[in-house]
Amino acid sequence: MARIAIFGAGYVGLVTGACFADLGHDVVVRDILEERVDELRAGRVPIHEPGLEELLAKNANRLSFTLDVGEALDGAEFAFVAVGTPPTASGDADLAAVWTVVHSLPQLDQGLILVMKSTVPVGTGEKVRAELDSLGLGHVGYVSNPEFLAEGTAVRDFTNPDRVVVGAFEPEHAERVAALYDGIETTVVTTDVASAEMIKLASNAFLTTRVSFINEIANVCELVGADVTDVALGVGLDARLGPHFLRAGIGWGGSCFGKDVSALKQLAGNSGYHFQLLAAVIEVNELQKRRLVGKLKSQLGNLRGKVVAVLGVAFKPETDDTRDAPSLVLIGRLLAEGAEVRAWDPIAPERVLPQGVTLHRDHLDALDGADAAVIVTEWPQLRGLASPEVRDAMRNPLIVDGRNLLDPSAARAAGFSYEGVGRGSPSVAEPAGTPEPDAVPQ
Ligand code: UDX
Repeated sequence: MARIAIFGAGYVGLVTGACFADLGHDVVVRDILEERVDELRAGRVPIHEPGLEELLAKNANRLSFTLDVGEALDGAEFAFVAVGTPPTASGDADLAAVWTVVHSLPQLDQGLILVMKSTVPVGTGEKVRAELDSLGLGHVGYVSNPEFLAEGTAVRDFTNPDRVVVGAFEPEHAERVAALYDGIETTVVTTDVASAEMIKLASNAFLTTRVSFINEIANVCELVGADVTDVALGVGLDARLGPHFLRAGIGWGGSCFGKDVSALKQLAGNSGYHFQLLAAVIEVNELQKRRLVGKLKSQLGNLRGKVVAVLGVAFKPETDDTRDAPSLVLIGRLLAEGAEVRAWDPIAPERVLPQGVTLHRDHLDALDGADAAVIVTEWPQLRGLASPEVRDAMRNPLIVDGRNLLDPSAARAAGFSYEGVGRGSPSVAEPAGTPEPDAVPQ
């Protein structure tokens, strides 16, 4: 079993640390935030990620947390870099935190391998290698081992990965990093550093392309009276295409997609190539986030003074992460239109909301007297939204379902006006014989 240091106690660092400890390795997680390290030492987990708290507790004897680089590296054979690489103003990846880790490495006697988990532009490994050499750390190895875990399912994704990608300058280093995953059944893709870096960026770009594609199909479905959920089912059954990432909705968000896709577009541009397809994928997503405002206007007319309940603030369910969340763009647009916005989310923090927007933990409070309910995040708690209780609480029983969470005919039968994404025009989707809202028994 190995001794592993992990730089960065965010989603990736903590999940990686907990899962490696669970495989039997000794792990020290180092962060620069004193408060975060204190909390972790006290057994409190600063982020919401299903299964993580239990895993950290279960492996507490093989896990420690520190602010000190020397302590983290004491006896370590591997140092994983799991720090943030947020976008700069130009859309490139900001590698400041990565360089800080590289420059914080002391002169080491031991044969350490630096393993890059953070998402970085292609060519970063080459640059870090050169920097290590010039710092007198030529004996420190470098391996790219990108992370593919998704928030909300991160622990499961680590323990059941579709693949582990290892890109190295020296085959022996690749083998040693791959061996850390012994006990996990998966395909290991061993390649050069630049290709490993590109696999991560290309994967995220492809996933967003699929979602933007199905969102455009949904928009056309609305015009021609087709239902995108059936279309996606039929398309996804083609084994060459597969069923994943074909859920139409309000657009993709999250801490990775936006920054990684933009970083790949910039990387291509900086290298002399205009990545036209990716530019369209991004633009389609920006427009998609704003489309729901048009739907609300067509139902309610001018939005000035209208009360809109935005249901879901997190960028996806089972996380409290609101980075690049479509909800925030929608809320901004609604406020600009003069609407009164109430938000509901079971765990998202209130501080991310603009001034004047209230956050409710009980969705009935947000819906009380509302002119419209907009489903932005497909939290399971919202499945029963089309209930008599909600209908009676709202001033105007309109549901705009940005995630196609509800069954349109059931919602209409329950007395709501309902509009999803790409589910035909209401007149077409309405099955014959569906009772009018006021004909529904109370
Ligand atoms: C993503 C990648 O899946 C993961 O491999 C990478 O390491 C980090 O980025 P994550 O951001 O946690 O993970 O969430 P994901 O489940 O991929 O969803 C991203 C966004 O796409 C969400 O806003 C989600 O609502 C949206 N999405 C996803 C759709 O709109 N439709 C889909 O069919 C799938």
